[in-house]
Amino acid sequence: MEKIEITICLGSSCFSRGNKNTLRVVDDFLKSNDLKKHVQFRGNHCFGMCEQGPILKINDQVLTQVDGDRAIKALKAHFNID
Ligand code: FES
Repeated sequence: MEKIEITICLGSSCFSRGNKNTLRVVDDFLKSNDLKKHVQFRGNHCFGMCEQGPILKINDQVLTQVDGDRAIKALKAHFNID
């Protein structure tokens, strides 16, 4: 399986508006599906897109106004998980 890169914005705007929770949700999802080895998951500072945040990137795909549910949906699509 190709390793995918997930980058979550941990800038103060995104973090306080939902990425604090999304970080935990994504991490739990990766652990419970044993996907950690297929993923490089890291935080980043402000992407300069605060007004469209919270922001999460999966490879080159930028998810705007993300929440836990949307993040998981996108990850499931990437990994072909139902
Ligand atoms: S804090 Fe996330 S884009 Fe600015």
